[in-house]
Amino acid sequence: MLNIVIFGAPGSGKGTQSAKLIDKYGLFHISTGEVLREHIKNGTELGKIADSYISKGQLIPDELMISILDSVLEQQAKAGISGVVFDGFPRTIPQAEALNGLLQKRGTELHAVIGLEVPEEELIDRMLSRGKLTGRADDNPDTIKNRLQVYHNQTHPLREYYTKEEKYLAINGMGIVDEIFNEISTGLEAKTGIKSTK
Ligand code: AP5
Ligand code: MG
Repeated sequence: MLNIVIFGAPGSGKGTQSAKLIDKYGLFHISTGEVLREHIKNGTELGKIADSYISKGQLIPDELMISILDSVLEQQAKAGISGVVFDGFPRTIPQAEALNGLLQKRGTELHAVIGLEVPEEELIDRMLSRGKLTGRADDNPDTIKNRLQVYHNQTHPLREYYTKEEKYLAINGMGIVDEIFNEISTGLEAKTGIKSTK
C-alpha cells in the first residue's frame, strides 16, 4: 500500500498526472477540487459554502476540508483499493499535519510527495486555455491571479516541509505529458519500490 501526494501550483498538471498514476499503479484517486466541484454541481449545502471560496480563488477552511477528506477516505476503505494519490491536498501546513494523523489512524503513512514544478507564465496559459475550452469557473484572469497568490503564500511552504521529511520528489512539469510521467515513474519507483500493476 502506497500513499502519494501530487503537489504543485494551479495548472501544474496534478489531475493529468494523477490519472496516469492510478492507471499504472492501481491506486485510489482523491482530488479535493473535484470533490468540491461535484458538490457545487449538485447544489448541496457544502457546495454552496465551497463555491463562495473557490470563485474567489481562496482555500476552503482547514477544519472543513480535513473533515471532508476523512469521509472520502472512508469511501476509499469501502472501495477496497489500498493506496491513495492525494491531488490538491494538503494545501497548508495544518492540512499536512492532519493528513499524517488521518493516515496513522488507518495504520499507514505518507510515502512520497511528487512536486510538479512549472513556471508561472505557463500555468496562466494552461488555465486560460482550459477556461476557454471547458468553462471551468475559476479559470478566469482575476481568480487565476488569486489562486496563484494563495498558492505562493499558503501552499508553497509545504515544499520545504516535505523536503525536510525527505519525501519531496521534484519533477520538471514542463513538456510532453508522457515524458513527465516517465520521470515521475522512475523517481517514484526508485524512492518507494512501488511496481506497476499492469
Ligand atoms: P483544484 O481543483 O485542486 O485546482 P488547482 O490546484 O487550482 O489545480 P488545477 O486543477 O487547476 O490544475 P492541475 O494541477 O490539476 O492541472 P491539470 O492536470 O488540470 O482546486 C480548486 C479550488 O478548490 C481551490 O482553488 C480551492 O478553492 C479549493 N480547494 C481544493 N482543494 C483544497 C484544499 N485542500 N484546501 C482548501 N481548498 C481547496 O492541468 C491544467 C491544464 O493544463 C489542463 O487543461 C491540462 O490538459 C493541461 N496540461 C496538463 N499537463 C500539461 C503539459 N505537460 N503541457 C501542456 N498542458 C498541460
Ligand atoms: Mg486539478
